[in-house]
Amino acid sequence: MNKAEYGIKKVLISEQEIKDKISEMGALISKEYDGKKLLMVSVLKGAFVFMADLMRAVTIPCEIDFMCVSSYQNSTVSSGTVKITKDLNLDVKDYHVLIVEDILDSGNTLSSVIKLLNHRNPKSLKVVTFLDKPDRRTTSVNVDYTCFTIPDEFAIGYGLDYAEKYRNIPYIGVLDPSAIEE
Ligand code: IMP
Ligand code: MG
Repeated sequence: MNKAEYGIKKVLISEQEIKDKISEMGALISKEYDGKKLLMVSVLKGAFVFMADLMRAVTIPCEIDFMCVSSYQNSTVSSGTVKITKDLNLDVKDYHVLIVEDILDSGNTLSSVIKLLNHRNPKSLKVVTFLDKPDRRTTSVNVDYTCFTIPDEFAIGYGLDYAEKYRNIPYIGVLDPSAIEE
C-alpha cells in the first residue's frame, strides 16, 4: 500500500473492471450517438477522470464542456437547488447533450443540473453515471447509462474524494470509518 492509499479498507471496483466497463460504455455511446452532434458535459470536480477515460473510448466525433455547481446550504431542508459557480462555454441548443456524472447519491445535484440544462433546449439530454448508490436516493432521477451500482458505502478514488483527497487512486475503494473525521 502506498501513502495515498492510507485508510482504504477494500477495493470495490478494480482498475481492470473499470477499463472493461468504460470500453463497453464507449462503444454503446458511439453507436447511439452516431451521426449526432454530441456534447459531453461534466460537473467538476469528481467526474473529470471518468470523462477523460470515457471520451477516449468514444469513437465518433464529440465535444466536451465542464461546469461547476455548489449546493445552496440550508440547515433544515435538503434543497434541490444548485448554484452555478462555473458555467458551460458552449450553447447546448446546438447539441445532443450527455451529462457525465461521477456518482449519483441523493440525486439532488443531478436533478438540478438536468432541469437547468433542459431549460436551455438541447437537441436531447441524457445522463451517464459512473456509480449509482440507489439506497440513498431522495430525489428520483432518470439515468440512461450506469457503469456500476454500489452499496451504501463511502466510495473514493477514480476522481471521487474524501475531503479533497484520494482522487488520484486508480480504482474505487471504500474508506475505513476510522479514516473519516467528523
Ligand atoms: P447528490 O446530490 O447527493 O446525488 O450528490 C452527488 C455528489 O456528492 C457527487 O457528485 C459527489 O461529489 C458526492 N458524493 C456522494 N456520494 C459520494 C461517495 O460515496 N464518495 C465521494 N463523493 C460522494
Ligand atoms: Mg465531491
